[in-house]
Amino acid sequence: MKELKNRILITSALIYANGPVHIGHLVENTQADIYTRFLKLNGHNAFYCGAEDTHGAPIEIAAAKQGVTPEQFIDRWVKEHREDYRRYHIDYDCYYTTNSPENKAYTELIFKRLVDAGHIYTKEIELTYCEHCKRYLPDRYVKGTCPKCGAKDQYGDVCEHCNATYATTDLVEPYCSICGSTPIRKPSRHYFFRLNDFSDKLRAWLTGNKNLQPEIRNQILSWVDQGLQDWCISRDGPYFGFKIPGEEEKYFYVWLDAPIGYIASTANYCKGRGFTADDIWQTYDSTIIHVIGKDIIYFHLLFWPAVLMGSGFHVPDNVVVHGFLNVNGEKMSKSRGTFLTASEFADLLDPELLRYYYAANLSHTMTDIDLDLKTLQDKVNNELVSNIANLVYRTLSFLDKNFDSTVTTTLDGELLADVARKAEGVRDSYYELNFREAVAKTLEISTVGNKYFQDNKPWELVKTDKEKAQRVLTDCVNIVKTVAILMKPITPVFAERVEEQLGLPNLKWTDVDRVIENHHIAGAKIILRKIDPIVLKKPGEKQEEKREEKPAKPTGPASLDLRVAVVTEVKDHPQADKLYVLKIDLGSEQRQLCAGLKPYYHKEELLGKHLVVVTNLKPAKLRGELSQGMLLAADSGSVVGVLNVPDSPTGTQVTAEGISGKGAPQIEIGDIAALTLEAKAGKAYINGKLLGTENEIVRVDKNVEGRIR
Ligand code: 2FM
Ligand code: ZN
Repeated sequence: MKELKNRILITSALIYANGPVHIGHLVENTQADIYTRFLKLNGHNAFYCGAEDTHGAPIEIAAAKQGVTPEQFIDRWVKEHREDYRRYHIDYDCYYTTNSPENKAYTELIFKRLVDAGHIYTKEIELTYCEHCKRYLPDRYVKGTCPKCGAKDQYGDVCEHCNATYATTDLVEPYCSICGSTPIRKPSRHYFFRLNDFSDKLRAWLTGNKNLQPEIRNQILSWVDQGLQDWCISRDGPYFGFKIPGEEEKYFYVWLDAPIGYIASTANYCKGRGFTADDIWQTYDSTIIHVIGKDIIYFHLLFWPAVLMGSGFHVPDNVVVHGFLNVNGEKMSKSRGTFLTASEFADLLDPELLRYYYAANLSHTMTDIDLDLKTLQDKVNNELVSNIANLVYRTLSFLDKNFDSTVTTTLDGELLADVARKAEGVRDSYYELNFREAVAKTLEISTVGNKYFQDNKPWELVKTDKEKAQRVLTDCVNIVKTVAILMKPITPVFAERVEEQLGLPNLKWTDVDRVIENHHIAGAKIILRKIDPIVLKKPGEKQEEKREEKPAKPTGPASLDLRVAVVTEVKDHPQADKLYVLKIDLGSEQRQLCAGLKPYYHKEELLGKHLVVVTNLKPAKLRGELSQGMLLAADSGSVVGVLNVPDSPTGTQVTAEGISGKGAPQIEIGDIAALTLEAKAGKAYINGKLLGTENEIVRVDKNVEGRIR
């Protein structure tokens, strides 16, 4: 792509803040990073913006499960992701988050413009709802029998057995994958985007945009021709995302605000730089390039451009689509040990060498990349080490030994002109995002350099014509300099080391034409050595090796994660005379508990009470009803009194004289039996330590004395 405006924004897909960066993600990050580095090297005002994709039901559910807020949950992943990008030299100019004020403002602005232009309408639809979890269930949280082929335990959107797609409400014998109960159908009003309004505009954009890969253009055009369905852009709470203005419990669907995160990240980048995101996104004075994987083309080449068209924003100039990553010829797989995180792979190989391998395999097509570990080893050893690094080392060390690290004047002008011409070819390949070709052409140049060195036999020449030998070496230094420039986007650290040794820091692409003469180089050191075969360990072995020092399992009161719960519902247990089934609110989540309180309390007496619950007890079914924790009560043998804390808000931590079990690992019922829990004089103790919250001490209802269970 050569028609580039004054400012160029490059993005790659935003990673969800709920899992690690893996080597598949790195294909895309590497592609976007190389391209941005290349453009900068050529003097373009290019910037690479990214962000964490933070919203959606999975993140809300995962955070609640861990008993943390979604913000806390996201933060952990953001830190890890940033570290991975740093290790792989993925040099974002701005790395932001979709959970930002800028993103909220742009999402609301775009939504308002779409509403005002009549592209949004609402309609009631029937959805799958879990009465126990009190939530509508997204596709991945309801399972059941496939309505087409009868396969059991299939997700709510697609059958992995027969590939049929359907709505969650079509599933036979559905169950909630969070709590296991049978969901109901429940209507809800939702917001829809009239995607079909944009069919003609999309067609014109797709056919008019010469940057798009032909196979992608054709695929998307065929979808447009088949007729586009309107797109539901809202979700019911509980949800982690931006509330739709004017609504109480409705949120923008994560896939609406995620790509708007590209704009928000741009806005953050622009701060203090004398231009704004609107200069990029609301004019056509800039170039916008998205790099994505082929799994999300529907979002980036249909929904996203249509949303931008409908709201008067700049439609992308290019969407570069890459294929999937396979490892050793097969889909990445945990059981084969080939599903590797960025950090696991960095323990096996210098990250820059993976960048080299990806570059050597990336062209501007959707072809899948195969990370064949033997080929990787061969490529690194035969190309990067034996060809490029060898040219660098033999040239600089020869100069070191024989000419006091000094070059004089060049000798073979024709050779150097040929190298410069070839380097122009490399530049064209980079512009075309054909990095594979850029690598191949760079290797050709390096081969020319090695051959020139070899053919001139400087080790002999130095004995007969020292001056000529030094000029031969001067030519070689010029080739080394050019090769270093050409490799900068792909292997920035290697290139920087070469620059250091040459004594030529911060080389730019224009330095390809610069002739280095009468210059003192800084010295020669081996930068790269051949690598050994890369051996993947079996999954079990890997865990063994990677296992971090785990803190010792807490004992005593610290083993119980005790929190204040408010009882929101009490029902009779359908199968057990003495048990109630309670719904409790823990602040961050709702749970169900079974408690043997029926002979001692009326239902109304329990409702609204602030009780103490062991939250980290392994969930169990008691006569068919799920019990997620244990409610503490004192038992004298004839009377039972619950532990209560009326002045402590729901979710408050309960401690034993300051000893807190917050975040303690899951325990079994037998672990509780190993502790001494007792009630005396209206107070509660664990191993002799008084229980309380920061507001009050725990009281025992009815002043019951005896064991707490
Ligand atoms: O598929 C994914 O992993 C998404 N998180 C990609 C979002 S890209 C952009 F739209 F934000
Ligand atoms: Zn449920």
